[in-house]
Amino acid sequence: MIELRNVTLKYGEKLILDKVSMTVRDNTIKAVLGPSGVGKSTIIKLMLGLIKPNSGQVLVDSVDITHLKETDLYPIRRKMGIVFQGNALFDSMTISQNMSFFLRENMQLPDDEIERRVAEQIRFAGLEGYEDQLPENLSGGMKKRVAIGRALIFNPKTILFDEPTAGLDPVSSRKILHIITSLKKSNNLGAVFVTHIIDDVFAIADEVAVLYQGKIIFDGPADKLHESDHPFICSILSDKILEI
Ligand SMILES: Nc1ncnc2c1ncn2[C@@H]1O[C@H](COP(=O)(O)OP(=O)(O)O)[C@@H](O)[C@H]1O
Ligand SMILES: [Mg+2]
Repeated sequence: MIELRNVTLKYGEKLILDKVSMTVRDNTIKAVLGPSGVGKSTIIKLMLGLIKPNSGQVLVDSVDITHLKETDLYPIRRKMGIVFQGNALFDSMTISQNMSFFLRENMQLPDDEIERRVAEQIRFAGLEGYEDQLPENLSGGMKKRVAIGRALIFNPKTILFDEPTAGLDPVSSRKILHIITSLKKSNNLGAVFVTHIIDDVFAIADEVAVLYQGKIIFDGPADKLHESDHPFICSILSDKILEI
C-alpha cells in the first residue's frame, strides 16, 4: 500500500501539491487524472522517494519513507516498478540488456537467473526475436513493452506508470492498457497510472484521484466520477474531452 498524507510540495516558491492525501491499495489500479503541469509526475517521484515533500508523509507498506536515506530507500523502491513517460531506455543497449540492466546493477543474481527472468519478460512482452535489437528499431508500443518488462523483472508489487499511453496510436494504447489489467488479474499486481486521458481511466481504473490546482478534488471508484459536482469534473465529463 502506498499512501500520501497531507503532502505539500513546492518547487521554489511555486506550490504544486497542497496537503494532498491519497491511498493506493494493493492489487488495485489507481489512476491519477489531471491536466498537464498539475503535478502528476511529481506524485510518482514522491512515491519512489526521489523527491521529498516540504511537509506531510509518504508511506509504503506502513513505513514512513519521508526521511529515509537513499540506501534505505532501495528495498522500498524494489516493491515498485516504474515505467517512465518516455520509457527511458538506453539507446545503445539491446532490448535484453535494457531489461536486465538494473537487475544486474542492483541484485547479486547468478547469470542464468538473470537470463531466465529476461526470457520470461521477453515472452510476456511478445518481443521474441527482438532480444538483440536496439530500441531505435522498435515501434512506440514495443518500446513501452520493453520498459514494462524492465520494471517487472524485479517482481514488484505495484507498478507506477507515468502517462503510459501518451504518444501511442490507439491500437498500441489498448495493448498497453490490456497489459496493465492482465498483470492485475494474473499476477495480483497493483498499478498507479498518472494520465491526462480520461478514456484510459474509464477503460481500466478501479479508482481515480483527480488532481486540480494542487488539490485532490475527487478520489473514489472510477464509475462514481459522474456523481461529482465539482465544476472542473463536470466540464471534462460534459464536454467529453478525451484529453485534458
Ligand atoms: N524540478 C523542478 N523544478 C521546478 N519546477 C518543476 C520541476 N519539476 C516540475 N516542475 C513544475 O512543476 C509543475 C508540475 O510538474 P509535473 O509533476 O511534471 O506535472 P505533470 O506531470 O502533471 O505534467 C509544472 O509546472 C512543472 O513545470
Ligand atoms: Mg508528467
